[in-house]
Formats: sequence, C-alpha cells, structure tokens
Amino acid sequence: EDNRRESLMIVSGYAAKFFHESLLETDEGQSIGLSYFRERGFTNDTIKKFELGYSPDQWEAFSGAAIRNGYQEEFLVESGLSVKRDNGTLYDRYRGRVMFPIHSFTGRVIAFGGRTLKTDKAVPKYVNSPESEIYHKSNILYGLYFAKKSIREEDNCYLVEGYADVLSVSQAGIENVVASSGTSLTVEQIKLISRFTKNITILYDGDAAGIKASLRGLDMILEQGLNVKVVSFPDGHDPDSYVRKLGTNAFKKHIEENKKDFILYKTTLLLKDAGNDPIRKAEVIREVVESIAKIPDSIKASVFIKECSSIMQIDERALLSELNKMRLAKA
Ligand code: GTP
Ligand code: MN
Ligand code: MN
Ligand code: MN
Ligand code: MN
Repeated sequence: EDNRRESLMIVSGYAAKFFHESLLETDEGQSIGLSYFRERGFTNDTIKKFELGYSPDQWEAFSGAAIRNGYQEEFLVESGLSVKRDNGTLYDRYRGRVMFPIHSFTGRVIAFGGRTLKTDKAVPKYVNSPESEIYHKSNILYGLYFAKKSIREEDNCYLVEGYADVLSVSQAGIENVVASSGTSLTVEQIKLISRFTKNITILYDGDAAGIKASLRGLDMILEQGLNVKVVSFPDGHDPDSYVRKLGTNAFKKHIEENKKDFILYKTTLLLKDAGNDPIRKAEVIREVVESIAKIPDSIKASVFIKECSSIMQIDERALLSELNKMRLAKA
C-alpha cells in the first residue's frame, strides 16, 4: 500500500545519497569509484546530475549505516539493498561497485544498477535491484526523468541499451536519451515514451545482439503506432564508446548522417546478406512488408509500401497485395 511504497522510496533515496557521498567523500570511493568514472570520461556535472555512486567493498557498510540511522530492516530487504543471512543479520547486496541509481519519471530513486570494476568474467558485470513494490523493470526507462523535457522539445527519443550510453550521449548534449537497460524493450516502455513523443530513434550496440534487438524493437514500436528510425554503430562499439572515440561533434554528425527510417535500415541490413540471390531478395522484401504490416494506420503503411517499392525496385501493387494478405492473416 502507499505507506510501504513511500518507505521503500525513502530508503532508496537514502541509499543513493549514501553511495554518492561514498564516491565523492571517502578515500576508497575517490581512489576506486571516482577514478573509474573519470577514466570513462564522465564529468563532475554528469556524476552529480545522475547521482552516481560507489558502494564500499565491505559486507555491512551500507546496511550498518542504514540501521544506525533508523531505517527498518523490512524495507532494506524488500528494496534489495540488503540481504538477510540465515542468522538474521543483514549484508550489503552491492559491494565495491559503481552505482547507477534508477529514478522514476517523477525523480524518485526506486532501484539501482551496480557495475563491477573487476574484469573477471565470472563476476556479473551489472547487478540490479530485484523487482519490488516500487520497481517493475518492464515499466522503467533509465534516464527518463532527466530526458523527458528534452524529449518533448525535440519531439524525439533516443533509445540506447545501457546506463553508460545514457550518460555519454546526454553528456554530449543529446539529452533526450533513455535506456531499456537490462531488459529487452517492452510495450510498457514504449507506451511510457509515447506520452512525450511519437518518434523513437534506436541507438543500440553495434554487435549481433544489438542488431537483433533493434529489429525486434522496431517492430514493437511500429505496432504501437509510433515512428521509428535506427542509427547503427560499427561492430564492437556502443554509443558510449563511440562518443569517446569520435568526440561530441563527430558523434552528432554520425547520428545525423546514419539515421535511417526502418525500411531503409532493414532493407540495407538484410540485403547485405542476401547478395544477388533472387530467392533471398524475395525473403527480404517479405520481411520488410511484415514490419509494415505492424503499422496500425493504413495510410502510413501505404506510404512505406511506396518507399519499399522504390528501394527494392519492385512493383508497388505486388507489395500491397502481400501487405493485405498479412493484414488478413492477422485479423
Ligand atoms: P559498460 O561495460 O559499462 O559500458 O556496459 P554496457 O552498458 O555497454 O553493457 P552491455 O552492452 O553489455 O549491456 C547493456 C545493458 O544491459 C547494461 O547497461 C545493463 O543495464 C544490462 N546488463 C549488462 N550486463 C548485465 C548483467 O550481467 N546483469 C544484468 N542484470 N544486467 C546487465
Ligand atoms: Mn506495483
Ligand atoms: Mn550490448
Ligand atoms: Mn558500453
Ligand atoms: Mn553496450
């Protein structure tokens, strides 16, 4: 109920402050966490704005401080910040990690992502808060609170995969950016964006997983009646690493010059593998028309059919009849 939710948000806010102060005001935080963020190129302004933090590499640093400050065990455990041992005492979930607080779109801290500083593959790179009464992963977009004003003004939302991508892109002056971080894009997340804009530009990682996720994501976005574009990155890069490689201006230029509407993106991508094989080419056409068939607005769909027809140099009527077949099959 509301009191429990409020208590969870209060303890999460306290934790964010604790981790932020550990980062900025303790020797361990400065020498380990802060220097890590510096190496990644994050400025003080970014660190402050996103309330980045550091969890001390001890078993009870946070839980002990929280208990001493009167926070109730129940909420420490429910929020996932603390874990209960068999003997009833608490230990910290996050130890020796850099901390990314996750804000609700009204700006309350509701969860955390903690990144390890170890390169050991056996250690999970990110540890996230468990689902709780205030944190439903599938309904949250990282960065939305900081991005929403700019999303409205720009009438576009850039969608990235990870926390660091949000920070770097935002720091480059592109503030209308959010991440689905750690879950594959959900319908709820798209609906959340659609409160602020009907235009989404996907900036996923340039690896096989990112490409696959972009194809899935664009179909879902079309199905919700929104417009979608995609910018791709060289394999091995994500928006964060690419900003750092190119610098702000060249990065912005990359985005502007490589922004493709979904038809052009999908045909270019799929045709690369199809070569000149007519059967493979027919399959590409069918897959693109499948995406077009997701669009609820039939006038918009017919405009995209026209574009597809001109890109693929194939008769528009053939495409329309394929589209109608798919529509009927769906209905
Ligand atoms: P950096 O190495 O810090 O730049 O991370 P990244 O954001 O580039 O990571 P990656 O592309 O591998 O993953 C994208 C997002 O998925 C991350 O920002 C996390 O939100 C999430 N993620 C990645 N690895 C893990 C993991 O091991 N566990 C969980 N729960 N989430 C993860
Ligand atoms: Mn709920
Ligand atoms: Mn990735
Ligand atoms: Mn990255
Ligand atoms: Mn990445």
